[in-house]
Amino acid sequence: MDSSRLSIAVVGSGYVGLVAAACFAEIGHQVSCVDNDEQKVATLRAGGVPIHEEYLADLLNRHRGQSIEFTSNLGQAAREAQLIFIAVGTPQGETGSADLSYVDAVASEIARSIDDYKLIVEKSTVPVYTNEWIRRVVGRNGVVEELFDVASNPEFLREGTAVVDFLHPDRIVVGADSEKAMALLRRVYEPLTSGEYYESAGAIPGMRNRNSPAPMLEASTKAAELIKHASNAFLAMKISFINVVANVCEAVGADVEQVAQGMGQDSRIGPRFLNAGIGYGGSCFPKDVAAFRYVAERMGVDFGLLGEVEKINAEQRIRFFQKVRSALWTFRGKRIAALGLAFKGGTDDIRESPALEIIRQLLHEGCKVAAYDPAAMERAAAIFPEGENMQYVRDPYEAAQGADALLILTDWEEFQRLDMTRLRSALRYPIIVDGRNLFDPARMTELGFTYMSVGRPGVVHPRETLANPNIP
Ligand code: UDX
Ligand code: UDX
Repeated sequence: MDSSRLSIAVVGSGYVGLVAAACFAEIGHQVSCVDNDEQKVATLRAGGVPIHEEYLADLLNRHRGQSIEFTSNLGQAAREAQLIFIAVGTPQGETGSADLSYVDAVASEIARSIDDYKLIVEKSTVPVYTNEWIRRVVGRNGVVEELFDVASNPEFLREGTAVVDFLHPDRIVVGADSEKAMALLRRVYEPLTSGEYYESAGAIPGMRNRNSPAPMLEASTKAAELIKHASNAFLAMKISFINVVANVCEAVGADVEQVAQGMGQDSRIGPRFLNAGIGYGGSCFPKDVAAFRYVAERMGVDFGLLGEVEKINAEQRIRFFQKVRSALWTFRGKRIAALGLAFKGGTDDIRESPALEIIRQLLHEGCKVAAYDPAAMERAAAIFPEGENMQYVRDPYEAAQGADALLILTDWEEFQRLDMTRLRSALRYPIIVDGRNLFDPARMTELGFTYMSVGRPGVVHPRETLANPNIP
């Protein structure tokens, strides 16, 4: 193996670990991807890809059996690796703190396998001080200090674009407290920081290239852990901020899209993450905001601001549901078309999805829901099984057939290309309540819809009172 090719174990083959493992193989390393879910390991070995991520299947097919292998044997993988990345789940506990029990368990098991120098790296999103705890746990399992270091290398992967985010990052953050550890991490990412990867055959396309390689920020472990929590909390705050501005716009009759555009043209604010809607979800923002607030307050720092971010986010779903109620008047027995189940477009992940919360409320009120999502219906059906009041359909038009209203709950790109004439003829009433501001209110009025969205004047179309004559 040439010196640049390192032997890496990645523990946890979920959204983060599997993408990291595939990308480490892609940039030239030998990777062992570990998971304690035998079924998942078997699926991966057989060529299955358990999550919906652009380019992931390509990379796994390219490297399976060559630079990447799948195993549930953590001990063996740890013994053979020079670096061991921990990417197991860090779900939110009851108190809001991150549940680090999986990290603890994995660190202990790694410790029992250490027989020569290992660099253990936190890839999962973990609160500050986790690094110290991992070091303590490994020490308690009898490993002398000279035989290991613990570093932090947080992920900034957005679901749906995780492979591109990994290979074409804004920045790579590494936190290490020893030069030996930092030198190893430089070698891991050298193909990206030198720009060499971007000129290799079959390189995944993105914003980086030889002349604009990935920058690496070298920090202390604590700073690296904090960069991740602070970045996610800031992005969540930015979303809650524009959502409150949207509510002000509704109150005064302004259009939040215009306000967001004007704000975003200030280079200090920037246009991204200023899309008003039914709020953020996913396995990261809700968990990371709660964990960051918890750890700050444990350290005696009042981070009430994050409490407001959470409150606004919860409020946004309630406001959206009230908007649906104002359009329908009553719910019981009404047929609702729900477009979108994933927590955002481009992924099959439904964790903390605002869409599912809205559907839960609709079912509770006695509605009949016909739902469509390009990727997340199977996962949603495990929570809301198909039944008399809950159907999963093949396309948006089938969902709209005979519906009293249509809701946009996830910002799938394909929804922006819907045939509005076909949609209008399928609906019993031409009512659309859009939680992701996908459409232009003026155009929707011209097309004869009652169109309500977030932070923009709602339009009740005079002709909407006429039920669709084609529907009994
Ligand atoms: C999760 C968090 O969501 C994210 O914030 C954090 O940065 C990394 O962990 P994700 O990949 O989405 O990211 O986690 P998940 O999809 O739950 O995958 C975790 C994987 O680890 C699962 O496949 C699970 O089977 C595996 N695992 C968990 C182990 O292999 N060993 C364990 O002890 C626990
Ligand atoms: C996020 C961070 O972006 C990523 O850097 C981190 O590593 C993991 O958490 P992810 O949760 O996958 O990534 O998705 P993201 O694109 O950030 O969206 C999160 C939520 O915010 C989604 O529910 C999305 O719909 C919502 N969102 C995003 C908005 O409501 N408005 C916006 O302008 C942007």
